[in-house]
Order: sequence, then structure tokens, then C-alpha cells
Amino acid sequence: MRIILLGPPGSGKGTQSQRLVERVGIPQISTGDLLRAAVAKGSALGLRAKAAMDAGGLVDDEIVLDMIRERLAEPDAQPGFILDGFPRNLAQARALDGMLKDLGKPLDAVVLMDVDYGELARRISGRRTCQDCGRVFNVFTSPPAEGETCPKTGAPHRLFQRSDDNENAVAERLRVYDEKTRPLVDFYRRQGLLRAIQAAGTVDDVASRLRVALETSPPPASVTPPPSPPRAAHRSPTKAGAVPVARRGAAGREVVPKRKSPKRKSVNRAKSERAIGAKAVRARGAKAARAKGAKPAPTRRVKAAPPRGVKAARAKGAKRARTKRGAR
Ligand code: AP5
Repeated sequence: MRIILLGPPGSGKGTQSQRLVERVGIPQISTGDLLRAAVAKGSALGLRAKAAMDAGGLVDDEIVLDMIRERLAEPDAQPGFILDGFPRNLAQARALDGMLKDLGKPLDAVVLMDVDYGELARRISGRRTCQDCGRVFNVFTSPPAEGETCPKTGAPHRLFQRSDDNENAVAERLRVYDEKTRPLVDFYRRQGLLRAIQAAGTVDDVASRLRVALETSPPPASVTPPPSPPRAAHRSPTKAGAVPVARRGAAGREVVPKRKSPKRKSVNRAKSERAIGAKAVRARGAKAARAKGAKPAPTRRVKAAPPRGVKAARAKGAKRARTKRGAR
């Protein structure tokens, strides 16, 4: 299996990749992890990458592509791989296509992980990583279990917070995702490789949606909606209408789930969002869009649902018609 997990910072790409590694036995190739390792080593490449990473920008394509080329050639990547955080822009995506074509190993699927903005802020602010085994935890949702030890050292996990998980860097990472990475959704949709899953909910919930998505064929490129205009602010891709999170209905048609009404934010979530500067990011995104002369997002008209009795009568009528046709 050769797959890409695509999604904004904090959408759970790393967490789900680690689950998939255990389940499927193919390696996770995370450009973020490779770059952080180079930074920790203090190599020339690491030093070049560090400034861009700390600022929340993208590291040069040339550095990243060399790293990926080398990593894909390693023996453990021959049966397949999970790309996490790569590609990040169209140039990288096209270069990857070329590399895989040369190897005669095309991609099987690209899974887009769709999460609400508030949830991203909460996840990122709570993220902690074990500096020995690299396992990702969250102080709010998935801290290490009582007495849990690191499989590498046998001692308790030594947790650290990433240097780019701060307010300014996160704001920039989200902006860069919108501008450079989001166009990949349409790029892979046109290739018929895109599958979108709702990545909110527990890690287990998301893991099962991911499993279903990987076992189902992607919607044909022809029935997917056309690309939508750029968003005015940093919001969930679904809110902007750009990315339908669809599953396949019984008749094979796309079924787009209804959005639930927003619930009251928990105290923890509100605190985390403040910590990561969610408001600042939204405001900055809106300001940037205004500066570019973007029009505000159109208001969505919601068709009023017919009263219950009317709906039932319509359904009855339709059923009768079908029965009549069947009898003929
Ligand atoms: P990278 O390390 O790739 O960061 P990212 O893409 O911003 O993604 P994250 O690692 O922040 O999030 P994730 O989706 O993996 O979420 P996670 O599973 O950890 O890149 C870092 C930097 O490197 C970039 O900014 C750039 O500078 C550079 N870089 C990397 N690749 C590059 C490239 N190709 N080109 C150029 N530059 C590149 O989860 C987040 C938290 O949420 C965790 O605490 C986790 O426990 C928790 N969580 C996960 N799932 C759930 C759930 N379902 N419910 C509750 N909590 C959850």
C-alpha cells in the first residue's frame, strides 16, 4: 500500500500513521520527523531547515525532495509506505509523481483528514512527544497511561513540546496550509485518488474511518464537485465548502453527512484555543483576505424542511408510484 495522509497541522496525520504502521506493517515517512532529526543532529541540512520550521514556513523543496528520494529507496519502503506531511505543495506533488512513475510504483490513495479549526488548536496546544521513541501524546486527550514506559528506554516517556507549537508558528502553518497545501486536494481528486474522512472524534473513531476509506474505492473524479474559491479565513475546509467529506451510500452515490449543530465549548477547549491564539489566527486570515480584495464567503441558503406530515405523505406517494410502476 502506498498512501498519503493529507491534512492541516494537528489533524492527526502522525497519530494515525503510527496506528497504520502497527496494523499494516509499512513505514511512516514523515518529512517533519526527518527534518526534526536533521535539526537535532545539527547537520548543515538541519541548520538550513530550522529557520523555516521555527517560523512555520515550508523548508526548501530541494532539501525535502532529496530526503524523500533517499528514504523511498530504503529497503523497508519497498512493500509500501505512508507519507505524512509530504507533499506540501504542487511542486512536491508533481516531483513525487515523477519519482513513483520512475519506480513503477504509483500511489494507491490520498486520504484527506478534515477537522474543525477549534479542534486543531486544542490538539496542537496539548501535543507532547516522547523524545526517545517519538510517540505522540496529548495532555488533554491521550496522556501516557499510568506507569507506562517508553519501549526504547524502559523508563517513563520523556515528553517535550515542539518548538513550532507556539501561537505565531501555528498561525503561519495554518496560513501556509491554506495557500500551498490545500490545492493538493483538487490535484489528487482529479487523479481519482482522493478520499476524505472526518478526523474529529476519538483516535479510535478516526482509525476506523481511515480503515474504511482505504478499503473503499474513491469516488469517481467526474462526480466530485468543482474546486471552490479560496477561503477568506482559516476555518475548517468543510465550512468553506471546499472539501466534501463524503461516504458511499447504498446506491453508490455520495452521501454528505449533515453538519451537527455547534455545541457549547468546554472550558478546556476555550482555554486551549486562547493559548494557541485561534482568534488571532482567524482575524489575521480575514485581514489578509480583505487586503487581497477577497469577497466575503457567500451566505448559504438553507432550504426549509417540509413539516413532518408533508414529508411522510410525499414518501407514501412516491412508494405508491413505485409499486404501480412495478405492477405494470
Ligand atoms: P510536520 O511535523 O509535518 O507538522 P504538521 O504537518 O504541521 O503536522 P503536525 O505534526 O502538527 O500534525 P499531525 O497532523 O501529524 O497531528 P498529530 O498526529 O501530531 O511539519 C513541521 C514543519 O516541518 C513544517 O511546518 C515545515 O516547516 C516542515 N516541513 C515538514 N514537511 C515539509 C515538506 N514536505 N515541505 C516543506 N517543509 C516541510 O496530532 C496532534 C495532536 O492531537 C497530538 O497531541 C495527538 O495526540 C492529538 N490527536 C490526534 N488525533 C486525535 C483525535 N482523534 N482526538 C484527540 N486528539 C488527537
